[in-house]
Amino acid sequence: MPLVCIASPKGGVGKTMVAANLAHALCRAGRRVLAIDCDPQNALRLHFGLPLDDHAGFMAGLPRRPDWRAAIRETPSGVRLLPHGTVDARGVLALAAAMERDPDLLGAPLRAILADPDLVVVADTAPGPSRALAALVPHAATLAIVLLADGGSTAQLPELESGRFLGRGTLGGLFAARMRVVLNEVESGSRLSTEVAGAMARHFGPRLLGAICRDMAVAEALACQRLVADHAPDSPAAADLQDIAQTVDLALFAAAPAQPAAPLWGPV
Ligand SMILES: Nc1ncnc2c1ncn2[C@@H]1O[C@H](COP(=O)(O)OP(=O)(O)O)[C@@H](O)[C@H]1O
Ligand SMILES: [Mg+2]
Repeated sequence: MPLVCIASPKGGVGKTMVAANLAHALCRAGRRVLAIDCDPQNALRLHFGLPLDDHAGFMAGLPRRPDWRAAIRETPSGVRLLPHGTVDARGVLALAAAMERDPDLLGAPLRAILADPDLVVVADTAPGPSRALAALVPHAATLAIVLLADGGSTAQLPELESGRFLGRGTLGGLFAARMRVVLNEVESGSRLSTEVAGAMARHFGPRLLGAICRDMAVAEALACQRLVADHAPDSPAAADLQDIAQTVDLALFAAAPAQPAAPLWGPV
């Protein structure tokens, strides 16, 4: 049932990396997890080892109202995946226009997916405002915003706090309480990085879910189309991602610990 939506006003900050590895960590903790790629970049699949020439996906065909169950991929990680699917520039515009005309195009399948009480859904999104983000946010138990510990992300704080990056100020205001922050690519050897991280921690307080160090293991895992915990289980980034997943799991299921003995996959 719970939806964790990964978003950011900025691109290239690690949203897709966090979405993939958070989904994996929740799965390893015993949750049934479905990861949905809502970014036309179609990059979430890369973390799960899908073949590069596999262009199929759910969101890409959304205007034709596809059966989301048929688009689900089982991945070796145990996470079930709804890839975005390949779209060209014209397709991106057409998809946005179709969702603008009918917000239920994504809303209806999303409600059906979230009706499964045992399923945790992790959604990856494109940078900044998008129709998909607007459709996801009202359903999100946690809206995890990924930022870097740098000046560019600091400059985005007013956009973030006002909710403007969600596309509509009112929407941001309504769902601000569910907003949490993940700080990515923190470099302990950099004065700028550690000072910005400290300032962010003071600014966000308990809204900071955690921080992930800058770690080549992350980039290497992606280059090998693997998840960080599989590729480099002893890396500092793997430990950071595990901590964040534990915090998210606790927030989602404070009263319901995972049942590792339960069958991992039943019908979604
Ligand atoms: N903590 C990290 N350490 C090193 N490289 C990282 C880290 N987080 C992300 N990256 C790299 O940064 C790039 C952008 O990450 P990505 O998840 O695609 O960002 P976004 O989805 O926000 O555009 C990728 O090449 C990824 O491997
Ligand atoms: Mg991405």
